[in-house]
Amino acid sequence: MQDERVLNPEIIEANDDLSLRPTLLNEYIGQDKIKESLDIYIKAALTRHESLDHVLLYGPPGLGKTTLAQIVANELKVHLKVVSGPTIERRGDLAAVLSQLEEGEVLFIDEIHRLPRFVEEILYSAMEDYVLDIMIGKDSQAKSIRVDLPPFTLIGATTRYGDISSPLRDRFGVIFHLEYYTVEELNEIVKRTAKVYNANISDDASCELAKRSRGTPRIANRLFRRVRDFAEVKNNGNITLEITKYALSKLGVDDSGLDMRDHKYLNTLINIYHGGPVGVEALAASLSEEVSTLEDVYEPYLLQEGFIKRSNRGRIATEKAYKHLNIKYMDGLFQ
Ligand SMILES: Nc1ncnc2c1ncn2[C@@H]1O[C@H](COP(=O)(O)OP(=O)(O)O)[C@@H](O)[C@H]1O
Ligand SMILES: [Mg+2]
Repeated sequence: MQDERVLNPEIIEANDDLSLRPTLLNEYIGQDKIKESLDIYIKAALTRHESLDHVLLYGPPGLGKTTLAQIVANELKVHLKVVSGPTIERRGDLAAVLSQLEEGEVLFIDEIHRLPRFVEEILYSAMEDYVLDIMIGKDSQAKSIRVDLPPFTLIGATTRYGDISSPLRDRFGVIFHLEYYTVEELNEIVKRTAKVYNANISDDASCELAKRSRGTPRIANRLFRRVRDFAEVKNNGNITLEITKYALSKLGVDDSGLDMRDHKYLNTLINIYHGGPVGVEALAASLSEEVSTLEDVYEPYLLQEGFIKRSNRGRIATEKAYKHLNIKYMDGLFQ
């Protein structure tokens, strides 16, 4: 049984429970350096009665960017206004959002790299000088007027740092890169989730879940919910190591947290392209996937765990990948 959604950190399910979201900085597990800095900046802003500097959060999906934005607003005791890059098509849409902000509020723009460039431009003066330059009227009647905005904080989130234009990037006072979580941190997250759901989980079971969650809290929580279902039906609700392993094998998640799609990726790289190097476009075509899906969803974890490498000639399968798939490794033979 293979579940397309279970390991995809980009998919947010309806039951990705809001009650699982930590609401304050000290409940947020991991990302210690980010937490430490944010704590200082927030305290300083509160003491000086100023708005917090604009913050850019970047990193793979499911690592806690949206959660962190909400936490910042909570800690500042202000309202969080949320918009998403791809849904803003016109300058007027963004101008309307900006002009409704109140002093000190936090505006969160998710997937900020997907704002059209001509829309993004109105952020420059808004972020730098808290003013909005808008055009009114048409053609020869058109004139630009300047509207003052209250001081506010913009938090942008992106999975693609390289797609942020430099004028926009330069206007963020603070830029944080979210890292994949360690097994220990994910273990803590799983235990916290079990507590929120009032579920019984053994230490070895929660550690096993943590190991297979691809460094990603969203996946850890999702696997937890699926495993809990198995435990409910087959084990009186007790989440033991045995039921966890059973459920994960039914879900098609292997010991390293790889699923059928990762296996297909590695098998294609090794068997069709002799382990690479092969360009990502060719690989995507063989897998009938978009290049961006490979780059954003499959590859970050495979790279981080050392199953693949990137070179200027393309992707290469490592010895670890061959071993994992039980294929004999012949270094350099085909290169
Ligand atoms: N540091 C953390 N501690 C505990 N839970 C977390 C943490 N980061 C993320 N989560 C959980 O993972 C889920 C996904 O986080 P989210 O903020 O939506 O990720 P992103 O916006 O980066 O895609 C959240 O609903 C939350 O329950
Ligand atoms: Mg998000």
